[in-house]
Amino acid sequence: MDLETGIERAAGLIKRSHRVVVFTGAGISTESGIPDFRGPGGIWSRYDPEDFTYQRFISSDSARIKHWEMIKETFAIEASPNPAHIAIAELDRLGKLDCIVTQNVDNLHQKAGVSGKKVFELHGNTRWIKCLGCGQRYPMSEISQRLKMGEAVPDCVKCHGILKPDAVFFGETLPQDVLNDAIAHSQSCDLCIVVGSTLLVYPAAYLPYYAVQAGAKLIIINLGETPMDAEASVLIAGKAGEVLSRIIEKVKGSSNDGGALGAE
Ligand code: APR
Repeated sequence: MDLETGIERAAGLIKRSHRVVVFTGAGISTESGIPDFRGPGGIWSRYDPEDFTYQRFISSDSARIKHWEMIKETFAIEASPNPAHIAIAELDRLGKLDCIVTQNVDNLHQKAGVSGKKVFELHGNTRWIKCLGCGQRYPMSEISQRLKMGEAVPDCVKCHGILKPDAVFFGETLPQDVLNDAIAHSQSCDLCIVVGSTLLVYPAAYLPYYAVQAGAKLIIINLGETPMDAEASVLIAGKAGEVLSRIIEKVKGSSNDGGALGAE
């Protein structure tokens, strides 16, 4: 499907939908300067994911050094929402967005103006850092300053315990209440839009599948392939910022002129 047809058809599906669930991955934030994991030059091309399990983090100094090095170049940077996040916030203002289910921990959907009540963060977030010893919590901004000042492994100023972001590490369970809510919303939406994810990490990657199983249409906007490409009514291999902006403009434009949008 060529880009123009894809944009036309995606806008048509959104126009005819009432409860849209947007499922996002790291690819939606690359245009904000945060690297993804498996795209070209992604984090896992520079770090070994085996070093990033919860067990390694709490048991090995060298693993903690690598963790904080990676966090310093990703989630500790002052990133802003890009046109893709802004387009999804516009979808919310148009009354079409049921919720966002995100694997991202960067808080950019909320910064773009979507209420936190509508953002299900399956992998937690990095807004807060917690001491595993005494429970003291620190905002990422404070820890980010310490990293910039050259601390390799920031520890708790109160008890010198291990500090860990609220993000879910490999080997940790996802927050059950968030997952249950995200599953319920995925199973009752009429359209699921996947943006910037390889759909390779479970259980998160089950959610678009649950939506399709329950009868929802599927749109995938991703520069790489995913295991669900064959199930998509619309498949767009384009940059999320440009593609989503143009789709939303078309939805808004059609609502003004009442013009019919492309069939799906
Ligand atoms: N527009 C569209 N797609 C993009 C863009 C962009 N601007 N930039 C990157 N992509 C695509 C990449 O080509 C890749 O296919 O987004 C996808 C990102 O996939 P991953 O890096 O695997 O990210 P994600 O699917 O979110 O990973 C899931 O894996 O390591 C864990 O916990 C981590 O939450 C993460 C999970």
